[in-house]
Amino acid sequence: MNNTPQDWIASPGTPLRGTLEIPGDKSVSHRAIMLSALADGTSQIDGFLEGEDTRATAAIFARLGVRIETPSASRRIVHGVGIDGLKAADGPLDCGNAGTGMRLIAGVLAAQPFDSTLVGDASLSKRPMRRITDPLALMGARIDTQEGGVPPLHIRGTTALSGIDFTPPVASAQIKSCVLLAGLFAQGETIVREPHPTRDYTERMLAALGVDIEFSPGFARLRGGQRLKAGDITVPADFSSAAFFLVAASIIPGSELRLRQVGLNPRRTGLLTALRLMGADITEENAGEHGGESVADLVVRYAPLKGIEVPLDVVPDMIDEFPALFIAAACAQGPTVVRGAAELRVKESDRLAAMSNGLRALGLQIDETEDGATIHPGPVQSGSIDSHGDHRIAMAFAIAAQRCNGQIRVGDIANVATSFPGFDMLARGAGFGLENA
Ligand code: S3P
Repeated sequence: MNNTPQDWIASPGTPLRGTLEIPGDKSVSHRAIMLSALADGTSQIDGFLEGEDTRATAAIFARLGVRIETPSASRRIVHGVGIDGLKAADGPLDCGNAGTGMRLIAGVLAAQPFDSTLVGDASLSKRPMRRITDPLALMGARIDTQEGGVPPLHIRGTTALSGIDFTPPVASAQIKSCVLLAGLFAQGETIVREPHPTRDYTERMLAALGVDIEFSPGFARLRGGQRLKAGDITVPADFSSAAFFLVAASIIPGSELRLRQVGLNPRRTGLLTALRLMGADITEENAGEHGGESVADLVVRYAPLKGIEVPLDVVPDMIDEFPALFIAAACAQGPTVVRGAAELRVKESDRLAAMSNGLRALGLQIDETEDGATIHPGPVQSGSIDSHGDHRIAMAFAIAAQRCNGQIRVGDIANVATSFPGFDMLARGAGFGLENA
């Protein structure tokens, strides 16, 4: 029986205080499983995110014949089967809620000598997949989607892929990574040129596991037919999870939080730029390196925020952080304008609609556009909002409630466990008013 509570009742707590350990990075955890599974030899992953999304990816590779041990929480020992060692699974492979899981794994499975089917939950089953099946088809893959280009994906096995020189139509690390992973198995060279640079974890991890790959912001090139060597992988704390506490402490008077050793890959930290433009007080201390990624403690103190126009070139670097940004904007002085963020409409939910409707339900004025919104700040009233099963929408409104004049019922919160298991306990420990309904 699943006893997971489905709603939260969130209300103002106390100023946020303390030192928080944020769970491991979701993007890095997915890739760590995939690439160590394809490597020759045994890899140890530390700091693995024990979230539903990343566990779904591990379960899929186990079903493809990879032995994965869990000696303790947040650690995996992966016995790689080599680039040619995956075996057909005995039925559909369930990616759960994870777009990253489905899109990257499709790149690997498109190049196997056996057929596979990838399925997902209700949210993932509505998300666009032509963005990956189109380039994979150019490489010679054969993948059927459902009408409208959505999952399940039926992938017919082939070992005859050819490299391509591809420019994705939208800035997307998932598209880039999918094509590069298929390129590992393809004849010749695969090149991805990006309209705007996106997170480069796939490139970095391939290089760390011995693949000869050339990459720079917005560009990646590799030759097919290379083998990966096992290596130990350390996963930094997830900036996207830290983001909720950066915003929460910024808007709750008297707050001061230290978020320990958070990953600061520049393709992820656009929210830091935006919050600092708004006047946030966030400093970086104890800077270091964790598994090849820059990390630092982020120390955030309450500061009055002002509205901004979010710079267009920062948008891709904060693409997962708009739910949190909307709450910061709602609590600032003066309007905040978001443009160039149409990708938010095809995330785990339509995040522009979910945030705009949610904030309106709490008494705020939001002018929604096709690719953004203008958020007019104001007092946050009591109300009920629907998170549409989207983890980041749920956490964003838990934060909004800390500035509310009553309480907010946040509906459909079970998917918080996809990216941030234990968010509610950590938040309560820091001072949030947050109860299971
Ligand atoms: C991710 C890339 C981004 C991001 C997602 C994780 C990744 O998606 O929104 O949460 O790990 O590559 P897009 O590639 O669709 O922008």
